[in-house]
Amino acid sequence: LDNGLALKPTMGWLHWERFMCNTDCDRDPDNCISERLYMQMADVMVKEGWKDAGYEYVCIDDCWPSHQRDAQGRLQADPNRFPGGIKKLADYVHSKGLKLGIYADVGKKTCAGYPGSFGYYETDAQTFADWGVDLLKYDGCYLDWQLLGEGYINMSKALNKTGKSILYSCEWPLYEWPFHQPNYTAIRETCNHWRNFADVYDSWSSIKTILDWSADHQDIIVPAAGPGGWNDPDMLVIGNFGLSHDQQESQMALWAIMAAPLLMSNDLRDICPRSKELLQNKHIIAISQDPLGKQGYRTAKMDSFEVWERPLSEKRLAVAILNKQEIGGPRGYLLAAIPGWKFCNPKCSVIQILPQYKDMGVQPIQSDIMVHVNPSGTTLLTLTPTSSNTTGLHW
Ligand code: GLA
Repeated sequence: LDNGLALKPTMGWLHWERFMCNTDCDRDPDNCISERLYMQMADVMVKEGWKDAGYEYVCIDDCWPSHQRDAQGRLQADPNRFPGGIKKLADYVHSKGLKLGIYADVGKKTCAGYPGSFGYYETDAQTFADWGVDLLKYDGCYLDWQLLGEGYINMSKALNKTGKSILYSCEWPLYEWPFHQPNYTAIRETCNHWRNFADVYDSWSSIKTILDWSADHQDIIVPAAGPGGWNDPDMLVIGNFGLSHDQQESQMALWAIMAAPLLMSNDLRDICPRSKELLQNKHIIAISQDPLGKQGYRTAKMDSFEVWERPLSEKRLAVAILNKQEIGGPRGYLLAAIPGWKFCNPKCSVIQILPQYKDMGVQPIQSDIMVHVNPSGTTLLTLTPTSSNTTGLHW
């Protein structure tokens, strides 16, 4: 969407995967969906280096509103859980130098059964603009699929009409795929990012199905991505319970390769130092936010390895080598077996970013150097051809 926003993949925090629809503030005040949760996340984001690392949006997901609209037909926050209201919360988040995201649904109800926007697109866009909201995640439950496109486009226009800059995060293709192949040209014109596939869970099998879907559909989805519009493989679940550290590294590396929004869903108030260091790794974030703005894709799949490559600015290439064999120990992969290695002619300067940062020096095209990749882990590299005859080269 050409609204000047999301020129690089969005970075921030989104409550859904970790906190879901917990509305029990009496018994679980620290984890329920309430203004406190977002204020505390905003505080931590500033204090613990998240904002400095680039994480900017603090995003509310489903279950924030009251079950009734107000007398003017406007959405209103649940008064017990958001006593100050969303405007005050937005002011608070802005006072920290961060941005606030909110959630609504193009259909008659949200997925969790709260009031939907159907019939209220302009009212809801204006309400969010009046509150000072900076991002809208717009879900697609409870609407006939044939009305999805019209609904998503109408809300995009309604947001634009408010005159406020509101980043527009859609789930349009996700809800259309069961019926037909979505029109990604229209989606890119309408949204700043869009979910294509099922919700992420806190498990390695969930991450694997998302990667498989993305690779299987890469010819369709990769060309749609670029500054202003991105494919969204859903939240980072790093720092929770379900992924080993190697698997967390794989999610981080592959989300950067896919130029995915980096929206963490975890508890930043209580996160292990290794996960924090991984999420704040400036070399991986630089790949994610690379100014060329091209999405990477899978280039090889053999012997239980997958290689994913992303062209970067300054003729560099990011390469992720994922070991999908979930038995045994680290397995060796030859640098020269990377499909993009053919451009290392006569040489490439090789930097390893994961599992640890290491300058691997200049390697000739005939290099016999191997990297060793842990089961369900990823080695992340950047390659920079060193010879001048690579001018104008396209990866
Ligand atoms: C859908 C979305 C999720 C989340 C929930 C909320 O499942 O895909 O990301 O927003 O609804 O109910």
